[in-house]
Amino acid sequence: MGSPKALVAGNWKMNGLHASIEELEALIAKITVTPAQADILICPPFTLVSAFAGSAEDSHIRIGAQDCHAEAKGAHTGDISAEMLKDAGASHIIIGHSERRTDHGESNEDVHAKALAVYGQNLCAIICVGETEEERDVGDTLPVVASQISGSVPDAADRNNTVIAYEPVWAIGTGRVPSEEDVRQVHKAIREQLVSRFGDAGEGIAILYGGSVKPSNAKTLMSIENVNGALVGGASLKADDFDGIIDAYR
Ligand code: PGA
Repeated sequence: MGSPKALVAGNWKMNGLHASIEELEALIAKITVTPAQADILICPPFTLVSAFAGSAEDSHIRIGAQDCHAEAKGAHTGDISAEMLKDAGASHIIIGHSERRTDHGESNEDVHAKALAVYGQNLCAIICVGETEEERDVGDTLPVVASQISGSVPDAADRNNTVIAYEPVWAIGTGRVPSEEDVRQVHKAIREQLVSRFGDAGEGIAILYGGSVKPSNAKTLMSIENVNGALVGGASLKADDFDGIIDAYR
């Protein structure tokens, strides 16, 4: 099956206007990592997907989105479908981010249904999991992550349609990062769960680390076994910072 393809993905969250296309262009001009070394993805807000996809068309950067509805179309005011995002130029859709799970009450079942919608468009779902600080403090990290994966990841998952992002909730936007040993332990457990469920195919599914990834810690985090890339929030907004993280794969 081969090992997973590395992916460095930027999640812009609710940030960015059309003027921010300058940051994307600066990033395109800077990147020297080759497609063989790592895939690079930027997930701007919905309003910028189409414009960013146009700007990045001839580059190695792919454009994704941050959420989608589970249904293909219909009476869902304010929502957006995977097909619409594909039409706008997205290649990947982040689903089940902890901010969606918290702010919008998304359950594992919801995330599972959204993943199927992403698969239905032949796009790649970046399925996010991760424990809260309370769960970590009582020693529940591994069972919490395992149940999120079993509940959120569909049976049809493979290396082309699915990427897992392990993001400890307490590390997101806080500047706090788990120890290398903690990251190694969780990523190993996720890999074992994927292999036990999907066989050899589970070896090929990329597992990203996310939560306060910065240029200063990226190389260390990305060198941990079974860490196949990063999902980056705050540090993906500036071309210099994001390029400094991508550098881990140069
Ligand atoms: P952060 O966010 O890099 O700002 O911690 C990561 C994420 O939420 O994907």
